[in-house]
Amino acid sequence: MSSEFGKNLRISIFGESHGAAIGVVVDGLPVGETVDLDALAAFLARRAPGRNAMSTARKETDAVRVLSGLYQGKTSGAPLCMVIENRNAHSNDYERLRHIPRPAHADYSASVRYHGFSDPNGGGHFSGRLTAPLCAAGGVCLQILNRKGIAIGGHLSRCAGVDDAPIDSLRLTAEELAAVAQRPIPVLDENAGMRMQAAVQAAKEQGDSVGGVIEVFGLGIPAGLGSPMFGGVENRLAQAVFGIPAIRGVEFGAGFGAADLRGSQNNDAFVLQEGIVRTKTNRHGGVLGGITTGMPLVMRAAVKPTPSIAQEQKTLDRQTGEQTALCIAGRHDPCIAQRAVPCVEAAVAAVLLDLMLDGEYARL
Ligand SMILES: Cc1cc2nc3c(=O)[nH]c(=O)nc-3n(C[C@H](O)[C@H](O)[C@H](O)COP(=O)(O)O)c2cc1C
Repeated sequence: MSSEFGKNLRISIFGESHGAAIGVVVDGLPVGETVDLDALAAFLARRAPGRNAMSTARKETDAVRVLSGLYQGKTSGAPLCMVIENRNAHSNDYERLRHIPRPAHADYSASVRYHGFSDPNGGGHFSGRLTAPLCAAGGVCLQILNRKGIAIGGHLSRCAGVDDAPIDSLRLTAEELAAVAQRPIPVLDENAGMRMQAAVQAAKEQGDSVGGVIEVFGLGIPAGLGSPMFGGVENRLAQAVFGIPAIRGVEFGAGFGAADLRGSQNNDAFVLQEGIVRTKTNRHGGVLGGITTGMPLVMRAAVKPTPSIAQEQKTLDRQTGEQTALCIAGRHDPCIAQRAVPCVEAAVAAVLLDLMLDGEYARL
């Protein structure tokens, strides 16, 4: 398994969906940093199911227990180990999927890779549940970054074909991002949120699922973080964000849309504002040459529709070699994208703190 990432800040995630617990070890955190466990619980609650009709019926409180790395409420320098118990697992939903793999899930590829020994229950280590410890690690990083004047937040920019109101990164404030985070559906336009919820509900009633796009912003990031080529900011962010199950694409700034622009349309003019170099527009999304420019980071992640759907699908019975029909029972999210918003924020926060810890800048 390769469930670790980070260069200076090493984050290692462990556990299975229906095992005793899931958790994370974070090594390399700056010392003496206060961790507000109530704020961390509130951050994790945004990912937990049950905030609205768009998520699974599985009930998990996702309470974080800190086993090490905190002394008198501050990071001590020892690896920070956080554990979340699994309380609401129903493993009998999964036994037959050992030989009858779900289309678009990892059942088949995992069983080949691990010679049939990987835990299939609830998707095992491949479950979206493993993003709870990612949120725990990223939530701690977010608190440290907030104290350095950096805000990270996102919205569900598109879901089931419904668009949220567009966000202009040049006018966006940390307060606006915080307000979106408080909403049961993380959108700017609450009307659009209601239409998204109705579209998800309609798909669910047809035994189906939907996808979406998450847009995340980083404000207050200093210029000069990152490296060219393989150590770029985009590279490190993409590595972490693709660790979130069901993410199918990542783009920065104008992204794929830049391919249809002319240079004269895409280039952001440099200007001096109050003695600081800025750009008049932000199609580059805050990164040039793999290095931050000091402009807001703009990143989008595409989330596929949930693989496990109630509708009948065709798959293979690997014991008989016959094509077979599969109707998936159990509790599944009709839409993953809305629950994945804090997961993407967490991954971005972890990478940004890691970048700030790169020896040559000594930013902290
Ligand atoms: C927060 C979250 C919740 C998820 N919930 C489900 C679910 O209920 N049912 C399901 O089939 N997949 C769910 N997934 C997606 C699968 O874990 C994922 O599609 C699978 O592991 C295959 O990985 P891939 O899509 O990255 O290739 C969820 C993912 C996330 C991030």
